[in-house]
Amino acid sequence: TSHFQGKSFLKEIDFSTNELMYLIDFAAHLKSLKQQNIPHPYLLGKNIALLFEKTSTRTRSAFTVAANDLGAHPEYLGKNDIQFGKKESLFDTAKVLGSMYDAIEYRGFSQNTVDGLAEYSGVPVWNGLTDEWHPTQMLADFLTIKEHFGKIEGLTLAYLGDGRNNVANSLLVTGAILGVNVHIVAPKALQPSTDIQAIAESKAQISGADLMITDDVDQGVNGADILYTDVWASMGEEESFAERIRLLSPYQINQALVKKTANSNTIVLHDLPAFHDLKTQMAQDIYAKYGVSEMEITDEVFHAPYAYQFQQAENRLHTIKAVMAATLGNLFIPNQI
Ligand code: CP
Ligand code: NVA
Repeated sequence: TSHFQGKSFLKEIDFSTNELMYLIDFAAHLKSLKQQNIPHPYLLGKNIALLFEKTSTRTRSAFTVAANDLGAHPEYLGKNDIQFGKKESLFDTAKVLGSMYDAIEYRGFSQNTVDGLAEYSGVPVWNGLTDEWHPTQMLADFLTIKEHFGKIEGLTLAYLGDGRNNVANSLLVTGAILGVNVHIVAPKALQPSTDIQAIAESKAQISGADLMITDDVDQGVNGADILYTDVWASMGEEESFAERIRLLSPYQINQALVKKTANSNTIVLHDLPAFHDLKTQMAQDIYAKYGVSEMEITDEVFHAPYAYQFQQAENRLHTIKAVMAATLGNLFIPNQI
């Protein structure tokens, strides 16, 4: 068996620096195969379950298209389609799915659910986002960064917004593993938990990354190569919009804030979906209620030439494909990564 075979991807700390770097480079390779129309059916005949308790555009599409490109069959199991969560337990669901499918993707609320699926199903399980972590997102983000800067280690990434959500947790810890100086710029009430900070600090001691948690925007964004933001209220937290708008308005990525980096090569990333105009129903509802039409990122910055969120979104496909092929495919990947 090769290096990753049979492993799950539940959270970033399951993998070493070299393993994460390998997956990013493997994704770049798969991206170039796809661009050249070179077939790469590494999962021919495999069946893959895609469990979604929360909605998704990018993650669902990336897993579906990646499975098809790899020659596997994906099956979407939405929360209203299956017995799990109402009539059937996690253990029973995992046993049954593991006896039929070769691997399982899970997106939902609890990290315990995705961990339990891996423990009881006996097949590789991939975390497509939980309340705590968003590991496949990280591979796409750092692939995008590597494509742009030609490197990852030594860069400075400032994340602004809700510093306690899945994306903030994952960026802080993954950046620390990869040697990226991560600044979480957020009001005190929304800064990372002490548990997450401790995990990140222990990784930073090995990689040499400089981590910063601050509520001071000027200090936090100074010198940043990458500005990153995410929605102010995550899926399942929609009732906290009023409070988040009050707390997070100073942390909006707008042109004045971009200038504060004092770095003319700064790029902007956003995992998406983004709240930046009035084109969606939710944005119109928020506008009617609170009078704001832009939240975490202005429309102007979203459409600026230094904003790379759509390249980042496409990279979800290539990186998710890399995780699927490496953990489930019969590939030769040297064991000494
Ligand atoms: N970034 C991301 O995970 O997007 P979806 O919620 O659309 O999957
Ligand atoms: N923090 C966001 C990420 C969406 C991809 C959420 O959980 O809704």
